[in-house]
Amino acid sequence: MYVLGIETSCDETAASIVKDGRRILSNVVSSSLKEHKKYGGVVPEIASRMQLESITKVVDCAVKEAKIKLKNINLVSVTCGPGLAGSLLVGISFAKSISLGLGVPLLGLNHLYSHIYANFLWCRKVKNTFLTTENRTLELSPKAIFLNAEHLAFPFVALIVSGGHTTLFYVRDFDKIDVLGATCDDACGEAFDKVAKILGLGYPGGPLIERLARRGNSKNLKFSCSNTKELLDFSFSGIKTAVLYYVKKHSIAPALPAGRHSQLVRDVAASFQETVIDTLIKKSLLACKFKKTNRLVIGGGVAANTRLRERLYSEAEKKGLNIYFPHPKLCMDNAAMVAGLGYQLFKKGYKSGLDLNIDLN
Ligand code: KG4
Ligand code: ZN
Repeated sequence: MYVLGIETSCDETAASIVKDGRRILSNVVSSSLKEHKKYGGVVPEIASRMQLESITKVVDCAVKEAKIKLKNINLVSVTCGPGLAGSLLVGISFAKSISLGLGVPLLGLNHLYSHIYANFLWCRKVKNTFLTTENRTLELSPKAIFLNAEHLAFPFVALIVSGGHTTLFYVRDFDKIDVLGATCDDACGEAFDKVAKILGLGYPGGPLIERLARRGNSKNLKFSCSNTKELLDFSFSGIKTAVLYYVKKHSIAPALPAGRHSQLVRDVAASFQETVIDTLIKKSLLACKFKKTNRLVIGGGVAANTRLRERLYSEAEKKGLNIYFPHPKLCMDNAAMVAGLGYQLFKKGYKSGLDLNIDLN
C-alpha cells in the first residue's frame, strides 16, 4: 500500500511516499527557514505563504522520486495539528484535493504522534531530498543504516522534544497514547532557540548551541531548571531567564564571528545544554519507572542532539533500558512519519472526511 504523507505544521513543506507503513520511497522537505532567520524565529504568515507556493512542487517531487504514479497512491495522510493554523490549512486543503481527485481515503493525524512513529520507519538507503524555497535540490544523501524499528514493541514511554512541545507519553498502541507530562511554559527546542538568540547565535538555536557546547565546560557555571508541581511536567522558561541575567550581568558580547566565541559563551552554552539534558533524562527515567517499562522512545527536533543521545545511551546501559532514537534526519519535521502512521491507523479503521479541520490542541 502506497501512502502519500503531507506535513506543513511549522515552516517546512514536506511530502513523502511510504510503502506499507515502513519503507520510505521518497522524503522531500522544503524549508522556508532562510526567510525567518532575520526575525529570529518562525513568522507564521511567511511560513504559510511559502508553503502555498511550494506544496505542488514538493508533492510532485515526492511522487517522482518514489518512482510511482499519482494514481498508485492508496491513501493520503496529513498533519492536522498541533501547529500553525495557516500552515496546517495549506497541507490539509492540498491533501483533501488529492484525496478527492484520486478517489482515495484521507486521514488527518496528530503531529506529535507522528514524531513518535519516526522510530518505526526503516532507514536503510533513505534518500532525503531537501528543496530550497526556490526548489533547487540542495542535498541528496543516500546513506543511513540502522534502525531498531523492527524491535520496538508496545508499550513504551515516549519523550517528544521539539520546537513547540516537550511531552512524555505512555504509548500502548498507535491509537492508544496517554500524556504523562508536558511543559508548563517554553518547549525544550524553544528554550534552545531563545538562549541562542540571547547569545546572538542565530536561528534555529539547537544545533548552534550544541556546536558551541562541545568546546565549553558545563562545570564552570551552574544553571538549573525550575521545579514543577507535577513530577513529570517540565519548565524551561526559568533557565532561559537565568541565562539572560547572566549574559547581562557579565556583559557577554554576543554575535561574534563564527568560531570567535569567548570561553565564557561556550561555557554558558554547555551548562545550559547539560542542565536541560539532565532534566529530560531524569523525568524520562522516572516515567519509565512509574509505568514499569524498560523501553524509552525519543523523537522531535531536539532528539537530533548528539549530547542527549550520548547521555541517554550511557544512562540506559547503567539502568538496563532500551533506548530508541529515530535517524537524525527523521527527528526534524518530515512527511515520512506522517505517511507511516497514516498507514497504521488506516489499517485499524481510521479515516477522515472532507470536513477534516485543523486541530490546534
Ligand atoms: O520537531 P521540529 O523539527 O519542529 C517542531 O515540531 O517544532 O523541532 C525543531 C526544534 C527547534 O527548536 C530546534 O532548535 C531544535 O528542534 N533542534 C535542536 C537540535 N536540532 C534541532 N535542539 C537541540 N539540539 C539539536 N541538535
Ligand atoms: Zn515537529
